[in-house]
Formats: sequence, structure tokens, C-alpha cells
Amino acid sequence: MAVVVSNANAPAFEAKMTVYVFICVMIAAVGGLIFGYDIGISGGVSAMDDFLKEFFPAVWERKKHVHENNYCKYDNQFLQLFTSSLYLAALVASFFASATCSKLGRRPTMQFASIFFLIGVGLTAGAVNLVMLIIGRLFLGFGVGFGNQAVPLFLSEIAPAQLRGGLNIVFQLMVTIGILIANIVNYFTATVHPYGWRIALGGAGIPAVILLFGSLLIIETPTSLIERNKNEEGKEALRKIRGVDDINDEYESIVHACDIASQVKDPYRKLLKPASRPPFIIGMLLQLFQQFTGINAIMFYAPVLFQTVGFGSDAALLSAVITGTINVLATFVGIYLVDKTGRRFLLLQSSVHMLICQLIIGIILAKDLGITGTLGRPQALVVVIFVCVYVMGFAWSWGPLGWLIPSETFPLETRSAGFAVAVSCNMFFTFIIAQAFLSMLCGMRSGIFFFFSAWIIVMGLFAFFFIPETKGIAIDDMRESVWKPHWFWKRYMLPEDDHHDVEKRNA
Ligand code: BGC
Repeated sequence: MAVVVSNANAPAFEAKMTVYVFICVMIAAVGGLIFGYDIGISGGVSAMDDFLKEFFPAVWERKKHVHENNYCKYDNQFLQLFTSSLYLAALVASFFASATCSKLGRRPTMQFASIFFLIGVGLTAGAVNLVMLIIGRLFLGFGVGFGNQAVPLFLSEIAPAQLRGGLNIVFQLMVTIGILIANIVNYFTATVHPYGWRIALGGAGIPAVILLFGSLLIIETPTSLIERNKNEEGKEALRKIRGVDDINDEYESIVHACDIASQVKDPYRKLLKPASRPPFIIGMLLQLFQQFTGINAIMFYAPVLFQTVGFGSDAALLSAVITGTINVLATFVGIYLVDKTGRRFLLLQSSVHMLICQLIIGIILAKDLGITGTLGRPQALVVVIFVCVYVMGFAWSWGPLGWLIPSETFPLETRSAGFAVAVSCNMFFTFIIAQAFLSMLCGMRSGIFFFFSAWIIVMGLFAFFFIPETKGIAIDDMRESVWKPHWFWKRYMLPEDDHHDVEKRNA
């Protein structure tokens, strides 16, 4: 795949934030919103009795028996498959999506995404049996795979260079807003019997239609056009989005970037070379760690989790709305701090912060929540409060940085291949959590929180020793300024690669 993310190290080219770019950004960001909506909707729906009765009668039966094991009432492989199948499909789809992105362009890839979304919404909202429901989730997953590959790339290529970093986190912000909207929709549709869940699942159709029609309005990115040898069209597109007459310098720089990228015939093979090792290993581990903070145990299953600790259905759904709101608000803190305090500070601070929250939640559950019965009111409240504080820590650190760091640490020629691998790793670990969490909750009970705590210690140590600060470092200067001086990663910076780089620069 020879996708190019244009060179952020280049001088700031003259560009205005035009209304047209703004509209394009808003339309594309709807892709993030749909992803978030799909993340948030499944947990609420899984907690609705009408839905369980229809598709998971065994879970519903078990749930009715109040004396039944608290931690196990939702443990059902098929119920988890309802959530997780989406991520499996997205994992597979992201490889196809990276091919369509480079062969056909970002715009058609987004159009494919919206069509997959619409088919998925139709099948899930109209499902009459479990097979139809799961196939619908698979289609939604194809949409997520196509959307998550094309949208961040589109955003970074269409944005004026000086706004690119902020726009990167806008994608995460839209994901959190999508999750929150889903939580609110769950809260209201839970009272609509017997088909509230159909409305909840069908709700994703609205942004999918916006994305479908919106993607007819938006422009193909200049980089994508030039990459496919449509240079004149690319120049025209650049003039249109930049709102200034003199776009020659930026045009030349994109042509140059495309030339360099086209010389690397197989960026995936290049990823395996020693010089790629630091960003490659960090990029993949960040995804493992991001998911093993346990965040999606909360995002997918918050209503189920809150019911487990003894809230009624309504209060549980309302608590999910509260955690969703905190997730959105704390993301703004991340946007504000990331270029001030730096990435490392946020990663380390939040590791301590999340660790404390997980331990407190684990201890309360271990002490006070028996296999049957419920938590007392005060303890249940403390659990919700610490879940909120925990979500806050995630939202300004491992959430956005899990996406930002892989997008800024690869050199140009492997940047988009590296990012595609990171996206698929993320989907893979998300799938694992989605598929396993309810069974782990059943098997490990409160121990699950100590399990995540142990991971948080590991990731905190990893960040401390192995993740260097990249704040304010020009994106193509990582090798010289970050990896070469680093106590560990410098061993992969072989002199012959320097030679190669110099040759390439002089060419
Ligand atoms: C993660 C998602 C998670 C979301 C929560 C994202 O960065 O990749 O898995 O659900 O944050 O806000």
C-alpha cells in the first residue's frame, strides 16, 4: 500500500481554514461518530430484557433468578459474540480498506463504509433471529474497518498542516461523542417496549445516511489524486481546499512525498527492518495496553456492570450516560494538555491514576459484593464514582495517545502501513476484551479488576522506560532526535540506514 501522509516537517504552507474544508472535516468525522455509537450501543441493548428474551432467552432466564450468581448472569459466548463480532470483521476489513484507500481513494472508501453501515443497521435493527443479528454486526464491522482506515487519513491530508495534530484528536473526540449519544439513546429506548432495542440499533442509520450523502459532497484528497497520477486534478483539489492562489510549494512537496513513497515497493516488509522497530513495537504494544486498561469493559458493558453491582436497569443505564459524558469532557483536557505537558506525563500520570481507581473498585467488590445479593447503596455509589474517575484518566491519555503516537512516530515511507497495522492490532485486542470480559467477570469475579491493575503496572513501567517524549518534535526528525539518543532504541539505529537516508535526501 503506497498511501502518503503528507510531510509535517515541511514548512507551513500558506493555507486558510476554508468553509469547504470545515464541511469536509465534519462529514468525515461522522465516521468516528458511528464507530463510537457502535461501541456504546451494544452494552445497553444487552441489558434490555426485550432484547434478551428474543435472542438470548438463556441469559434472560438466568437474570430473572435473583439468587443466581451476580458475576455470571451475563456470561454467554453468543451474547459476547454480539458485541465482539464487529471488531473481528473490522480487523479483516482494514486490510481491504487500506488497498481501496490507495487504489481508489479515500472518498470511495468512505462511501463503501457508509454502505456497509447501512446494510448492518438494517440487519441488526430488523433482526428476527440470532444469525441475522450477528451478520448485521459483521457488516457494521466492515464499515468500521473501512471508516477507521479512511477517515483519519482523510482528515490529516485535508487539514492545513498547522491544525493536523488537533484534528487527529478530533477523531477520538467524535468517537467519545458517539459513545455518549449511544448511552443516551439506550437510556430512553429501554423504556419503549417491546422494540426499544430496534430503535437503539436503528439509530446508527442516521449518521450512516449523513456519511453516505456527505461523502458525495466532499472532495478527494490532493495526495490521493497525485498518488494515482492524477496530478492536474490533485492540483485543482489543493487550490480548492486551501483557499489561496499560491499552492505550488505544497503541491511540489506532495509530489515529492509521493515519489519517495512509491520507491518503497513493500512498506510492510520495511516495517520489519531494525530501523522501524521502535515505532512498530511501541505502536503495537500501545494497542494491547490501551485495551488492557480495561476501558472497554466499561464502554461496552457499563450498564451490565452497574447492574452486576446492584443497580436497577434504569440507574445502570443512567450511570453509563454519566461515564459517557465524563469521557467526552476529559478528552478536551487531553486535547489541551497533549502539546503542553507532553505525552509521557499524561501516560505516566494516568497509569497511577487508573491503577488507584481499579484497586479501589476491586477491593470494594471483593469485600462487599458476594456471589449473590447486591452492594449497599454507599458502596455502589463509590464504585460509580471511581469508574468515572478512571474513565477520566483514560480519556486524556491512553485513549487518544493510542492513536496519536502511532500516527506521528513512523517515517513517511512506512507511516500509513504502520498505522494500518496499529488499527488492526487495536481491533484484535478490542475483540479479545469484548469476547472475554463477561466470562472473565464470571470466572475471576472482583479479581478482574486486579487483573487489569496488573496490566496497568506493566504499561506504566513500559511507558516509563520505553516511550520517549515526542511532543514538539518534527514528525520526520524522530530518528535523529528521539530514537538515536534513546538508551534502548538506539541499538536499532544502524549507521547504514543513515547512509541510505542521506542518499535518498540528496536524490
Ligand atoms: C479506544 C476504544 C474505546 C474508546 C473509549 C478509544 O481510543 O480505541 O476502544 O472504546 O477510546 O473512549
